[in-house]
Amino acid sequence: MRIPFNKVYIAGDEEKYLLDSLYSGRHCGNHSYCKKVISLMKEKHSFNEIFLVPSGTAALEMGALLAGIKPGDEVILPSYTFSSTVNSIVIFGAIPVFCEVEKETMNIDASKIEELITPKTKMILPIDYAGISCEIDKIMEIAEKYELIVMQDCAQSYGSYYKGKACGTQAHIATFSFHETKNFNAGEGGALMVNKKEWRERAYFLQEKGTDRRLVLKGVKNKYSWVDIGSSYLLSDILAAILLAQLEKEDEVKEIRSKITKAYLELFSDYNNNISFFQLSKNVEINHHAFWVVFDTKENSEQFMTLLREKNIAAYIGYLPLHSSKKGMTFGYQPEDLPITEHLASKIVRMPFYTDLGKEGLDYCIKSMKEVLNKIYN
Ligand SMILES: Cc1ncc(COP(=O)(O)O)c(C=O)c1O
Repeated sequence: MRIPFNKVYIAGDEEKYLLDSLYSGRHCGNHSYCKKVISLMKEKHSFNEIFLVPSGTAALEMGALLAGIKPGDEVILPSYTFSSTVNSIVIFGAIPVFCEVEKETMNIDASKIEELITPKTKMILPIDYAGISCEIDKIMEIAEKYELIVMQDCAQSYGSYYKGKACGTQAHIATFSFHETKNFNAGEGGALMVNKKEWRERAYFLQEKGTDRRLVLKGVKNKYSWVDIGSSYLLSDILAAILLAQLEKEDEVKEIRSKITKAYLELFSDYNNNISFFQLSKNVEINHHAFWVVFDTKENSEQFMTLLREKNIAAYIGYLPLHSSKKGMTFGYQPEDLPITEHLASKIVRMPFYTDLGKEGLDYCIKSMKEVLNKIYN
């Protein structure tokens, strides 16, 4: 049996919707399938204003543009994240200020944010690693105290909750990814959630290449013109058709994936003297996006992945910290500047996790992992 790390899931109606969209005569953004996706998302999770965009990366960039990130602004974010998170502000000339993570979630350690704030700080940019919400309440409190903007990178947390509210509803702006590696995918796709009321109208201009085309569509004007900066931050209706089919099956997908989390939790609980894994606070409900563990040593984590590979199972490392990357070090960072992040990231392993894993695949993973762990630790 071969178990890849990730596999695209077909929920059922993708082909039907795709062909319908293909022959509808309209393929561009903000058309019928985009509208259907947006109303489904709002109905399901009580989101505010939603902008469907070409990727999670584009959502972050549009968010940074909307937030007015400028050269010299400082943005506080975890070093343990994807390059897109940091690039979204660096492309506008901002300076990343990397914060440590907490070991229970690998999310930004909210208790260490305040000490990094300077007069140049403009934004806090947390992520929800593996679909587990960051401590968004605490982060919003800090932001309010210092008048900062919060953009939450929810690339991995569509359908997760924090204190009974969907991830993506609490920060000023938040972003999702619908890349093929996520629970729900459009191939490539994303969404920007604009919760700050005063920014919503302008977000339409930014999304539509800096034009007021929205006012034409609303019947307010008969010809649109250039009114602002902007870019083409639109998801094609063809891709929205795929996404709709996926999102319509959200509950089923969550149920299937929850069984994977449960099986991995049971397995790794037997090795908790040597291996730690995420600890969920009572505030958090997860979407079962991923499962990660931290080994006691780097050697054991590497041996685990190697021995699994011999059994045709792909388990992977997580992110390489940004502060100690080639680009991160150009901002003056050294690996030892964030010892907790560096230490945890060197020993983290992510298990294969996808909706189609099936009982047979999951049983094979658990049995193989048990054999490998017993070999390493007995
Ligand atoms: C935390 C985080 N932010 C942003 C992104 C970028 O999303 P996309 O691939 O849709 O551009 C990813 C992608 O995996 C991610 O994990």
